[in-house]
Amino acid sequence: LARGPVEPDLAGRHVVISAGGTREPLDPVRYLGNRSSGKQGYALARTAVARGARVTLVEANTGLPDPAGADVLHAGTAVQLREAVLKAAADADVVVMAAAVADFRPAEYATGKIKKKDGQEPAPITLVRNPDILAEVAGERARPEQIVVGFAAETDNVLANGREKLRRKGCDLLVVNEVGERRTFGSEENEAVVLAADGGETQVPYGPKEALADTVWDLVSSRLG
Ligand code: CTP
Ligand code: CA
Repeated sequence: LARGPVEPDLAGRHVVISAGGTREPLDPVRYLGNRSSGKQGYALARTAVARGARVTLVEANTGLPDPAGADVLHAGTAVQLREAVLKAAADADVVVMAAAVADFRPAEYATGKIKKKDGQEPAPITLVRNPDILAEVAGERARPEQIVVGFAAETDNVLANGREKLRRKGCDLLVVNEVGERRTFGSEENEAVVLAADGGETQVPYGPKEALADTVWDLVSSRLG
């Protein structure tokens, strides 16, 4: 992507970004997962590097090459992602949760492959809740002036649901994507509205994920002391 010279407005800042989607194993060969490509999180990492930040990218199952200039940590499950994000967040100025974290995981992990048996119905899969990483990071604030950003994909009542989620998570900014038939996962482009805890609302027109990423950094930058 062609870019002009970039203002290093994030120089001296440590930003932590999660990207991708967690996978919750059922047995050694199967998992519950989601369709997150990780591309938006990687765009956030590239643009933050370009703006001078020290970037820690915690990636889950993206298969994408490490972006130049970022420290990349790898996590598989929500529990692993939580551990990596909380550790990196300890000295972070900004935490952006762009990863799709599985809300639930199988209550039990079968150490051997689950086999079917003739004439037998499959056993139901019992799920348990995963920790809410964004709510935890936002609620505990490793540093009082830390900026915390969440993402949300909504299909209906996008703004009302977004406002409610922003409040519930306790974050400073929430990037809300409208998902539907036209909006496919894995796309290079994105359209969103960024809601702020102080009431702000920034529309980002359909365009490259870098453009949305730069809008997020503009809003973050103006809130950093
Ligand atoms: N998130 C998180 N930990 C979870 C679930 C979500 O950190 N266990 C973060 C995501 O990374 C995202 C934000 O919370 O930044 C919103 O995710 P979303 O799935 O939209 O929110 P939920 O609270 O899980 O609500 P829903 O029931 O609509 O899925
Ligand atoms: Ca969820």
